[in-house]
Amino acid sequence: MPSRRTIISLLAFTLFLSLKPSYSKRLFSNLESLEDHDICDHKNLPASHDLRGDQLTLLISGFSETRLPLIRQIAAAYSSLPSIFEIFIIWGNTSTPSDFFRFQNFESLGAPISVIRDPHLSLNLRFSPRGIIRTRAVATCDDDVLVDPASVHLAFRVWQRNPEKLVGFFARSHSYDISSKSWIYTVDPAKFSMVLTKFMILSIEYLFEYSCKIPARARGVVDEWRNCEDILMNFVVSSGARSGPILVEGKARDWGDARNEGGVGREVGLSMRNVEHRKRRGLCIEEFHRILGRMPLRYSYGRVVGGVGEQGMCEKGGDLVLCDQELGG
Ligand SMILES: *[C@@H]1O[C@H](CO)[C@@H](O)[C@H](O)[C@H]1NC(C)=O
Repeated sequence: MPSRRTIISLLAFTLFLSLKPSYSKRLFSNLESLEDHDICDHKNLPASHDLRGDQLTLLISGFSETRLPLIRQIAAAYSSLPSIFEIFIIWGNTSTPSDFFRFQNFESLGAPISVIRDPHLSLNLRFSPRGIIRTRAVATCDDDVLVDPASVHLAFRVWQRNPEKLVGFFARSHSYDISSKSWIYTVDPAKFSMVLTKFMILSIEYLFEYSCKIPARARGVVDEWRNCEDILMNFVVSSGARSGPILVEGKARDWGDARNEGGVGREVGLSMRNVEHRKRRGLCIEEFHRILGRMPLRYSYGRVVGGVGEQGMCEKGGDLVLCDQELGG
């Protein structure tokens, strides 16, 4: 018969084991993507009742091997956030040698971090529906932007109340130019109709919609021009939600991305490269409008600012109002 003391110490030991510190390093794994023809097969996707709604999956797009130290830093920082369930680094550089990641160490402070290699070069793959995603919401982000924890938390709570919408931190706008009779891409201080993939939260249903339901020609434009996948996703979500995205005010550290003008929020930069960039993005809006046969983009106004307690506050025309009144509909 074991003594009472033995039983107590066994219980204490069991308790100790179950209380292992949560910041312990998780296993890093290297996963391969499914081939294109499989991603739209519902058999390869989890049933929606198996998906969790209390946390999100973070998809970090990576391409440059020299930026890997930065990606490692960003992934580690995000891994400590309670609203993040899991992190996938979506690796788009198909020239990277297959054993490259075997020797790369990703330190996690909580959420597991894995690398998924894209099977071929395409910006559309950042929106692939993936069977390994276990949450209703994903956040897509670039490899050079770090949004602060409180802002991520606020954005996720806003998404939970508005799961049909896009929630982001970086806003842009479309507009119709009367003189050229064409759609243009712009930054408007008063309103916006798109948020950028620098950091956006959306339902995984839109990944399926984007990859499997809209005309393939629209994704063809993204591949051909190597640009505008974020604009196309804004078309897809605005169609589904019948409303524009939600902008959340956030503090972000931005190491700069030529494609996205390097601006935070609504700041405007006007270099020659930006003028070219905007022209090209305007042409994308034209093309998507033509291919989809309508203009689903809708304007939103104001933005959600840091909450009083748990309730997010929304700014409109200089006034703060409760977001549920302002943006809940
Ligand atoms: C992609 O991978 C190749 C092969 O390792 C490398 O030479 C190239 O620099 C990478 N591209 C970028 C943008 O880092």
